[in-house]
Amino acid sequence: MAKTMGQWYAPVWPAGSSTLQAIITGVDGMKDKPKIIAFAGSTRTGSYNKKLVKIAARGAEVSGAHVDFVDLRDLNLPIFDEDLEAKNGPPDGATRFKELLKACDGMLISSPEYNSSLSAALKNAIDWASRPAEGEKPLEAFAGKVAVIMSASPGGLGGLRGLVHLRAILGNIQVTVLPNQHAVASAHEVIGDDGNIKDESLCNKIEGMGARLWEVCRKLG
Ligand SMILES: Cc1cc2nc3c(=O)[nH]c(=O)nc-3n(C[C@H](O)[C@H](O)[C@H](O)COP(=O)(O)O)c2cc1C
Repeated sequence: MAKTMGQWYAPVWPAGSSTLQAIITGVDGMKDKPKIIAFAGSTRTGSYNKKLVKIAARGAEVSGAHVDFVDLRDLNLPIFDEDLEAKNGPPDGATRFKELLKACDGMLISSPEYNSSLSAALKNAIDWASRPAEGEKPLEAFAGKVAVIMSASPGGLGGLRGLVHLRAILGNIQVTVLPNQHAVASAHEVIGDDGNIKDESLCNKIEGMGARLWEVCRKLG
């Protein structure tokens, strides 16, 4: 079961008997407004992956989710280095990113593929956020969270090989990665400069992935 406020309150407020429980999780036992964080593993200005994850985020928002979009470029993260961490502590961007992850129920991640794997920027952000601050539980930013992953590439495989690695990494840090994923091939033709996908069925599919994440987060609430 996901770590939720509802679960923390469960022993004190028996199911079905508490107004407070209903406020936290909704009258039907579902969480009213799961929080979702959306980000791409690219720092590039015109990134197809940023555009793609924003389409999925729109699907979640239309369903009722609160979505925070994070641009990894804005975090200004140095390459993770234990000496640097020991000397200065985590950089502000890492702390900000981790706080958003801790507060979320689900993650939408679009991962570019670099040399058959996820980007260094994405792995680096995960590495920083995986580091426990004093008083935090191990992997507090990730454990018990749910993720939906996708990718976009101008290439023919759409970045599919990188998703295999990303799925494994997230699973190892206790994130439940939903089975549905999508790798958008020929991204330069499929995703317009305006950030939209013209192909209606593909657009619906990507929005549907965001909606599905919201639905699962609500049920786990
Ligand atoms: C170092 C590097 C390695 C790349 N390797 C791959 C690859 O293995 N597979 C692939 O489909 N595209 C590869 N590409 C092309 C990226 O998919 C392309 O640059 C894409 O636009 C990056 O995602 P973005 O648009 O979100 O920034 C590579 C690009 C770079 C810079």
